[in-house]
Amino acid sequence: MDKKDPILILAPLQGFTDVTFRNVYAKHFSGLDAALAPFISTMGQQRLKPSRLRDVDPCLNQLLPVTPQILGNAAEDFVFLARRLADMGHNLVNWNLGCPHSKIAKKERGSGLLLFPEKIDALLDRIIPDIPMALSVKIRLGRKSREEIHGLIKVFDRHDLDHIILHPRTGIQMYQGTADHDAFGAAMAQSRHTFVYNGDITDIRSFNKVKNRFNGISRFMIGRGILSNPFLPEDIKSVLGDPDKRLARLQAFHDDLLAAYSSIISGPGHLTGRMKGFWNYLGPSFKNHKKPVKAILKSTSMPAYTDNVAQFFAAQPVFAP
Ligand SMILES: Cc1cc2nc3c(=O)[nH]c(=O)nc-3n(C[C@H](O)[C@H](O)[C@H](O)COP(=O)(O)O)c2cc1C
Repeated sequence: MDKKDPILILAPLQGFTDVTFRNVYAKHFSGLDAALAPFISTMGQQRLKPSRLRDVDPCLNQLLPVTPQILGNAAEDFVFLARRLADMGHNLVNWNLGCPHSKIAKKERGSGLLLFPEKIDALLDRIIPDIPMALSVKIRLGRKSREEIHGLIKVFDRHDLDHIILHPRTGIQMYQGTADHDAFGAAMAQSRHTFVYNGDITDIRSFNKVKNRFNGISRFMIGRGILSNPFLPEDIKSVLGDPDKRLARLQAFHDDLLAAYSSIISGPGHLTGRMKGFWNYLGPSFKNHKKPVKAILKSTSMPAYTDNVAQFFAAQPVFAP
């Protein structure tokens, strides 16, 4: 890797980028340096879900180093879970302060907490001295308004954070509109912390726009853009590969992903459901995708799904993300 190469981090996408996906992805594609895992919720002290811990077990994540993420708003539960993660070997944990979903936000979790900088301040005062690892936060510009970021930055500046990952939208915006680069720049200029950029990097153009605008940024987090175009990290890093092999590589990746999920997801409905989720992102990257991808998404059984996917690839569709 060139010294000046950007550091590319896979964003957490709950329901998509679990350990199974991350391992299969890393087997088929290069370019990513690390991943942030989808959140693990705090659930009180006695109730740790083994499957959620397994997702971030360093032994199972050797192809792509992973940082765990916690969603919660109770200091003692956060510390309990973080210590468990430290025991597993993690020296960094991320706090999810960005989840936009109203069900979560209403409980003052995720982006819901951004409305209460004083509560975040008090939580950081209690959490940081009690966890045996570094802490980073993943945030949005605010819950309701992008003005909230200024008060939040003041709070974060009071604490020792490893870094701040900022997705420059508000919580209530969900994924509407575009990522606000002006607001990202203003937040970064106001803060003493290191920033990681996240939001709407979908191709080389959008990557270069962010990279050229923010000289101080060396780490970029990409989520949906990788589901739509798994070659994106390779393209950003100019990894040379035969363009004629792309379709075959995508098919091999798909088939491996399906095989991996087949061995852990029980129930054909759940399995096709999981795979269809990926097609929602990948499908539109093919030319004339509407009819054949619709057929895949409408498959009601595993045989129908595999047939439709086989037909899709046999028709040599043009991958043009
Ligand atoms: C389906 C889905 C699941 C997500 N799950 C998480 C999550 O578990 N933790 C988190 O911090 N962000 C989560 N996000 C937000 C992404 O990590 C990321 O911040 C957002 O998609 C913007 O980046 P992108 O434009 O590169 O996708 C999720 C987003 C989507 C679309």
